[in-house]
Amino acid sequence: MILQIVLELRLIKAIPLHIQFGLLIMSFHKKDQLQPLNIVAVSGGLNHPSKTEALVQAILDELGEATPINVHFIKFSEIGHLLGGAIYRNQLPQRVQDDLAAVEAADALIVGTPVYRASFTGLFKHFFDFVEQTALVDVPVLLAASGGSDRHALVLEHQLRPLFSFFQAQTLPIGVYATDRDFTPEYTIHSEFLRDRITLAVARALPILEWAPAKGQRADVIKEKSQHATQSLGINKQIEQEEVLPSAAVPSLDAAEARIHHKKPKTHVA
Ligand SMILES: Cc1cc2nc3c(=O)[nH]c(=O)nc-3n(C[C@H](O)[C@H](O)[C@H](O)COP(=O)(O)O)c2cc1C
Repeated sequence: MILQIVLELRLIKAIPLHIQFGLLIMSFHKKDQLQPLNIVAVSGGLNHPSKTEALVQAILDELGEATPINVHFIKFSEIGHLLGGAIYRNQLPQRVQDDLAAVEAADALIVGTPVYRASFTGLFKHFFDFVEQTALVDVPVLLAASGGSDRHALVLEHQLRPLFSFFQAQTLPIGVYATDRDFTPEYTIHSEFLRDRITLAVARALPILEWAPAKGQRADVIKEKSQHATQSLGINKQIEQEEVLPSAAVPSLDAAEARIHHKKPKTHVA
């Protein structure tokens, strides 16, 4: 394909070489931009209708306006009751196992939870306890929460951010917190402040989302990891760096380490 484009461009002799390369790079850039991001959204709201769900949907809508996305939306209002009885991942219904695999294969996550007793809900944490612990390294995560009180807005910073820092995920700098007052009785958003906050969070997320992820390529690499996690009963183990998926941020850990320790990459060591 690349060769074909180069040949076609070279046939147009009238175009100077540097312009030919410029056109080539622009065509790749455009193609890259058109490749949809695989976004997995998680709403921990257990009720139906749910303010958390409406909040996560509004973030998805804003993101979808700005860039092409494929969306897998996991709603705890639908799967919450399927989660509680399982201790091991292979005890979960296939639907939830598929949801976990989708989370692990995502280019980026949008996660939202209602505040329950000053934290995320127990079931939200239970779901993420099943996620393979090396799968989310460097994955951008946009944090959101809805609560009854303004006073629990820091749930984003003190509960959600540490959870995704454990996964070594790339938690995005701006999260979105909503309270009951931001919604109409029909659970649509009526607060302009909340809408502005969503716009800001998405605008600041966009450059990171479009740069960082492998854009759909994680899905193939992660399949084996997800299958292994389903079979493996133990979910608490040390993260080995060799198990971490290559990412745009750290394409080669050996090369990065070599720069720090001023030694040759391990792959070159006999
Ligand atoms: C069991 C329970 C505990 C709650 N604890 C808190 C809390 O600690 N702080 C708070 O601000 N809101 C609390 N709330 C209110 C919910 O967080 C709030 O209404 C939220 O928007 C509900 O989201 P949903 O519509 O998606 O279910 C609690 C609600 C429930 C049912």
